[in-house]
Amino acid sequence: MSAPRAERPAGPVLVTGAAGMIGGFIRPALERSGRTLRYFDVEPTPVGDPAVAEAVVGSVEDVDALRSAVKGASAVVHLGGIPKEAPFHAVVAVNIVGTYNVLEAARLEGISRVVLASSNHVAGFHPRPRAGAAPMPAAVTPRPDTYYAWSKAAAEVLGRLYHDRFGMDIVAIRIAQAAQEPSPDPRGQAMWFSPDDNAALIEAALTGPGGYHLVWGVSDNATRGLSLTEAEHLGYRSIDDSAAFTPQLRPDVNDRLGGLFCEIPLGEWRR
Ligand SMILES: NC(=O)c1ccc[n+]([C@@H]2O[C@H](COP(=O)([O-])OP(=O)(O)OC[C@H]3O[C@@H](n4cnc5c(N)ncnc54)[C@H](O)[C@@H]3O)[C@@H](O)[C@H]2O)c1
Repeated sequence: MSAPRAERPAGPVLVTGAAGMIGGFIRPALERSGRTLRYFDVEPTPVGDPAVAEAVVGSVEDVDALRSAVKGASAVVHLGGIPKEAPFHAVVAVNIVGTYNVLEAARLEGISRVVLASSNHVAGFHPRPRAGAAPMPAAVTPRPDTYYAWSKAAAEVLGRLYHDRFGMDIVAIRIAQAAQEPSPDPRGQAMWFSPDDNAALIEAALTGPGGYHLVWGVSDNATRGLSLTEAEHLGYRSIDDSAAFTPQLRPDVNDRLGGLFCEIPLGEWRR
């Protein structure tokens, strides 16, 4: 039996993993957005404007710490966890159980909107779309390239379960390659997700229509080969294109969407 949907509270947006790279890309815009923020990370998160943001140190593995951090929040942006390949049980503890803890804490606190950081690596074994091919839809069938990628596929469908059971609004973002600048290879040019576009997509995910949404997180790169239709439905408008950079390109390591992740040893820490 599904629990009734709780009233949506007003309050800060909780950002897990806020101290990380993408956290650093989105915090300045969030702090200027008129919202209040609560950052939650195992590392201390730098706060730009203490009048609007506070930082809490804690782990998504710690149900009590998470529950108290989530209390009173208006929405959750879940970035925290292991962002690359790792041993199976570490991936399960941090990414699988951690995402469950986040969704469950949000449900128990009556928070209706959760944004989940998924990954292009969910679809890593698909061939990367070639020039002129139809863009790959965001909901393309998972073909994970690592245990890490499998954990992101699991997070997406756990979000789907919480949407279908509890009516929570879930946006799962299959992030391509977030970085200051595109990697100097064709895959990196196609997959670049600029800092400003990271901030723009999080804003759209927090303010766009409710429901369950699975979208690519990628800039409007000329060669992206990934559909932006789903993200644009949320209100996302990319302002960046890797074509503005003209580096000397080295060749791709393979023709897969996940690139090197398709070849690294399964279940070994990747630093
Ligand atoms: N950077 C990319 O291109 C990319 C691509 C696809 C998906 N993602 C996803 O986006 C999210 C953010 O990625 P990032 O590049 O900023 O990685 P990052 O490693 O820079 O940031 C992750 C943050 O999570 C924190 N963290 C780790 N374990 C935690 C725990 N148990 N509890 C709370 N916080 C914890 C870390 O301290 C870190 O600050 C991750 O979920 C990652 O899988 C990133």
